[in-house]
Order: sequence, then C-alpha cells, then structure tokens
Amino acid sequence: MDYQIALIPGDGIGREVIPAGVKVLEVLAKEFQFGLQLTEFPFSCAYYRQHGEMMPADGLEQLRPFQAILLGAVGAPNVADHVSLWGLLLPIRRQFEQYVNLRPVRLLNGISSPLAGRTAADIDFLVVRENTEGEYSDIGGRLFTGTDREVVVQESVFTRKGVDRVIRFACETAMNRPARHLTSATKSNGIRFTMPYWDERFRAVTADYPDLRCDQFHIDILTAHFVQHPDWFDVVVGSNLFGDILSDLGPAVAGGIGVAPSANLNVEREFPSMFEPVHGSAPDIAGQGVANPIATFWSIQMMLDFLGEAPAGAALMAAVEKVTGDGFLTRDLGGSETTDSFTERVIGSLS
Ligand code: NAI
Ligand code: MG
Repeated sequence: MDYQIALIPGDGIGREVIPAGVKVLEVLAKEFQFGLQLTEFPFSCAYYRQHGEMMPADGLEQLRPFQAILLGAVGAPNVADHVSLWGLLLPIRRQFEQYVNLRPVRLLNGISSPLAGRTAADIDFLVVRENTEGEYSDIGGRLFTGTDREVVVQESVFTRKGVDRVIRFACETAMNRPARHLTSATKSNGIRFTMPYWDERFRAVTADYPDLRCDQFHIDILTAHFVQHPDWFDVVVGSNLFGDILSDLGPAVAGGIGVAPSANLNVEREFPSMFEPVHGSAPDIAGQGVANPIATFWSIQMMLDFLGEAPAGAALMAAVEKVTGDGFLTRDLGGSETTDSFTERVIGSLS
C-alpha cells in the first residue's frame, strides 16, 4: 500500500519532533514494505505572521486528498492562542468531521508514574472524547455589555447523531479490548438537559453490545478515580468538555505531556484523520534539540494502526519501550538524551 500523508510541523518543538517522526516512518516503510508520500505544509503561527492567516483560504482543500495528517504543534508567544486554535486546529477537526479524539493512557516501560506504587499493569486505558460539538459551541452571546444588566449566554449543543456516533465508536473500541469495559463520564445530577440526554443515549447505544460491561460516573468523582484507581478503567467516553479534562488528566498519571499521543479520527474515512502529540510548541525549550519525541512516535503508531499497518506501529512502540526500558530518557523524564540521540536509539532497536 501507498499512503499519502500531510505533514504540518507547525511551530516551536513541532519542527523538531516531526522530523524525528519522519525518520522513524521512513525506516518502518522500508522494513514493512509500504509506500509513503509525505507532503509538508507550512501552516503555523510563523505563516500567520507573514500572511495574516494560519493557512491559505483553500488550505482545507489542499489537505482534503490526504489519508492522514501528522501535526506537530502550533502556537507562538507573539500570536494569541485562540488564533492558532480557531484558525487551524478547529477548522481541521470540524470540517473533516474528526469527531473522535482518542487518547491512550498507558504507562510505558521504564517510565514512572507520579502515582506512587503504580506500575504498567495498573495504567492502561483509552479516553474517547467527542471532538466536534457539546460544550464547545459558538452559539451564545453577550447583551447589555458594560452595564449592570450585562448578561452572557453560552449554549451547549448535543445532537443525537453526534452523541450516538462517539459512543458507538467507544463501544466498538472497547469490544476489541480484552476487558470489554466502557465507562461514561456524565454530570446528569447537575446539568439539567444535556447530560440526562447523554445518559439516555449511552443506555440506548450500549444496548447493542450485551457483552460489554458498562458503567458511568459523574465527572467530579471520575477525576478522583483516575488518580486513586487508574486500574478501574479500560475505555472511557466523554463529551467535548469532560473528555478534554480527562484526556489531560489521564496522560498526567502516565508520565506527562512529553509522551502523550492523540488521534482525531474521521471514523468513516470520508476525510483525512489527524494525529498529533498532545503537547504544544513548548517555546521554553524550542531550538534546544531536547524535546521528547515519544508523543510523536506514539501518535505515528496510532496513525499506522488506523491506516492498516498495525504491525509496523507495534514494532515502533516495542522499540520505544526497549529504549526507555533500558533507561534512556529525555530531559523531561529525568534523562539526558536529546531528540536526535533518542530517535537514533529507537531506530537502532527497530532493525
Ligand atoms: P506546552 O505543551 O507547549 O508546554 C508545557 C510544558 O511542557 C513546557 O514546560 C514544555 O517545555 C514541556 N513540554 C511539552 N512538550 C514537551 C516535549 N515533547 N518534550 C519535553 N518537554 C515538553 O504547553 P504551553 O506551554 O501551555 O503552550 C505553548 C504553546 O503551544 C501555546 O502557544 C499553546 O497555545 C500551544 N499549544 C498547542 C497545542 C497544539 O498545537 N495542539 C496544544 C497545546 C498548546
Ligand atoms: Mg486540552
């Protein structure tokens, strides 16, 4: 097979971790005999400073023919964060119907959890976040600005189509894991309409999966359980806001931002899906060559899995865990490896 992949390195350490990812991808393509056509796009805050926009007006059309997009990070100190988010990431996620944001949480060999006494056997779950609607809507407004009648309204939008498809994806994903256990994040005791609706659709969709063990927790206690009982979880599904919170908390218990990967999936494959490390452009360490490339490598594993090259992805993660297991870590994890030296070690244990 031949894969067309769009690369958007973006800003800061995105420009360091994506080249590292390209190196391992090229080795894997040779070893596992698949074709790769990589096309790089300059969309970024640097591009914004030159052109006044994060990507050209036809940027999405340019990306449309690709099977996958591999993105580093966007963001720069002199560009407001909402510009990079609303000018690039959200249009891609929404126009390409990437309605699942998938974040695996697994404690890798050789990496220690901030939770005392927890090992790899305790921390291995997936957070499935709704990625296109819910609490993150631009419906709402402000009236009587600056007066004592000032009023602000922000609407949440939950559609049957949007809720059902993300829950169904979570069910299918959980059915393919040994534990077959799905947890729903809710808050139907406090949020009057949308969360009872979420619960209702959770019951309706999971009814199609009699072999699945299902439970639900309110988001407040669920965050506590992530810390106190990470071993309770297998697949966890949540709305856009709850999923956002859980998908930062999850990786934090498994070694932090330098290792956390994510996928934005258009499950039906009508549009490209996007794979990206969870971290940002890290201006504080950009240019020093010390960024941890694991989050990018793991995102590449998710991409290969999605493309149908699971063995190549598995080989990549096995190589990463061989290196971390041998004690070679980048600075963020207390080691002294650079982006390049770590990448070379991974490539060395691949072949
Ligand atoms: P950040 O993730 O860039 O950095 C947070 C901290 O983690 C920093 O101390 C950084 O040095 C460290 N860090 C992050 N990734 C690392 C890696 N791979 N290896 C070693 N250390 C790493 O988050 P921050 O500082 O809040 O945001 C910086 C910029 O990135 C902002 O402009 C923000 O908007 C943008 N951003 C972009 C994202 C994206 O493109 N999806 C996601 C998050 C933030
Ligand atoms: Mg977030």
